[in-house]
Amino acid sequence: MSDQQAQKQAAAKAALGYIEDDMILGVGTGSTVNCLIELLPALKLAGAVASSQMTEDKLRALGIEIVDLNFAGTLDVYIDGADEVNEHLQLIKGGGGALTREKIVAAASNKFICMVDESKRVDILGRDFPVPIEVLPQARSYVARQLAALGGEPVYREDFVTDYGNVILDTYDLDVSNPIALEKELNNIVGVVCNGIFAANQADVLLKAGSDGVTTLTR
Ligand code: A5P
Repeated sequence: MSDQQAQKQAAAKAALGYIEDDMILGVGTGSTVNCLIELLPALKLAGAVASSQMTEDKLRALGIEIVDLNFAGTLDVYIDGADEVNEHLQLIKGGGGALTREKIVAAASNKFICMVDESKRVDILGRDFPVPIEVLPQARSYVARQLAALGGEPVYREDFVTDYGNVILDTYDLDVSNPIALEKELNNIVGVVCNGIFAANQADVLLKAGSDGVTTLTR
């Protein structure tokens, strides 16, 4: 097993400490979350709200009951990974394309626990990883021009459609030095459904796994 995979598993194990019996758990998407999903059958969950079809399928296959967010009320805990995280626990997410549903479930939860391996920690968001932006298909070209006007370089994610039937523009070179302001600005472009900056609703707890174990950071 690679060091990175071992760190993902360590972060997932640490996340178990935030899950209580009979809870309806918000479950994110991605390879780190997949490590957590494998551990869930041993717990006594009341059910789970999934942040993507992929996660939903995995949970169902393990016999975990899927709950519609509209009937779940406010969730106590949402657990997910991230593509990048800064010192303020602000994130870039959406590498797997599930950003919109992830942002909805995170917003509907009291506590967002984010699990990462050490490669995800950055000083400035968006320097290495592009900001994924979910866009209505008809608006793709228009939104791309608006992003270019902001200094970004949007790249259409080929052969990919989101769970909501939309497309993704992975946008390089945006100035993410003020993540809250940019998150808002991107949301204001007509045709944008959601963007992968999680700054207004950042993580509450960061479980960062490294070679020396898992560090917990809270805000
Ligand atoms: C899914 O759309 C993403 O937001 C993931 O949560 C993020 O890409 C982290 O994925 P990994 O755990 O696979 O790195």
